[in-house]
Amino acid sequence: MDLADLTRELETLRADALAAIAGAPDSATLEALELDVLGKKGRLTTVLRGIGALPPDDRPKVGAVANAVRGAIESALAERGAEVRSTELAARLAAEAVDVTTPGRPVRRGTLHPSIEAMREIAEIFEQFGFVTYESPEIEDDRTNFQMLNIPPDHPARDLWDTLYVDVEGKLLRTHTSPGQIRVMQAERPPIRALLPGRCFRYEAVDASHASEFFQVEGLMIDEGTTMADLKGLLDQFAKAMFGADKRTRFRPGYYPFTEPSVAFDVECLVCGGSGCPACGRSGWMTILGAGMVHPVVLQYGGLDPERYQGFAFGMGPERIKMLKHGITDLRLFLENDLRFLEQFR
Ligand code: PHE
Repeated sequence: MDLADLTRELETLRADALAAIAGAPDSATLEALELDVLGKKGRLTTVLRGIGALPPDDRPKVGAVANAVRGAIESALAERGAEVRSTELAARLAAEAVDVTTPGRPVRRGTLHPSIEAMREIAEIFEQFGFVTYESPEIEDDRTNFQMLNIPPDHPARDLWDTLYVDVEGKLLRTHTSPGQIRVMQAERPPIRALLPGRCFRYEAVDASHASEFFQVEGLMIDEGTTMADLKGLLDQFAKAMFGADKRTRFRPGYYPFTEPSVAFDVECLVCGGSGCPACGRSGWMTILGAGMVHPVVLQYGGLDPERYQGFAFGMGPERIKMLKHGITDLRLFLENDLRFLEQFR
């Protein structure tokens, strides 16, 4: 092969390559072409192998042609490459296009269980009076659930709480949140303003107003010089915030072993406004909670000196509050998990 042959071959290579590049439909073809023509084992390298056989004077001439051919192919590759890439991008954008005007698929939102919602509403009100929420165990010991609340073993007052026992000596499922009073007193120094929401358990025959599982919210306030008037004022504010600012309230005498005196706290009937109707048993009042001044014996069990500290406690059923507020007549709805009922809450 002489100079003319080599030059011709280079020109043929250029013409072939430029034609192939111009006709390449996509970037994959272009990449294959680049490798085939300019790659280490490509056609250009193969042609240039012939240079060694030429007289030294001719070599630079072939070199110059080869460089021009390489330059032409490279710029053709770059130019066609830009074209196909922009076509490919446009095709991809069209294929992956999102119609932003399509209406969204609705996401099903859960709602709070009405018992939980009621406890939050209660806590939101008492938080404004400086009450802090505490947790207390669901599996209690007999001592804290009863004895330290002034209910000795075999005392007839135990009949007020039909108890579910656990298979561990001295342990039971708490029948009320009141043992939380003892735990808070043991953990904190007065002034104490504690709220104790939680699940309680009783051995009950289930009907429209009794469940073996339900919630309570316990309240406890202890300080020097706390009086029954503080209790009445606080509960009155609570009832107005929960049921309406125009609602009248009253105390009635009650009995609990751990409070002395003990009261039942009533709000005027939410259905008839006090004139008497079937919903309030024609009394005009609805009982919303039990309360009283913490018994001195209980303060002592809590490690507090009853000569120095006084306090009050109250306990209410959030389900009962919800039932009164919304005219729900069957407590079992709270445990049946019927979505038609549950979805009506926030
Ligand atoms: N623990 C009582 C009950 O279960 C309610 C209560 C709490 C009463 C605090 C007085 C004071 O019925």
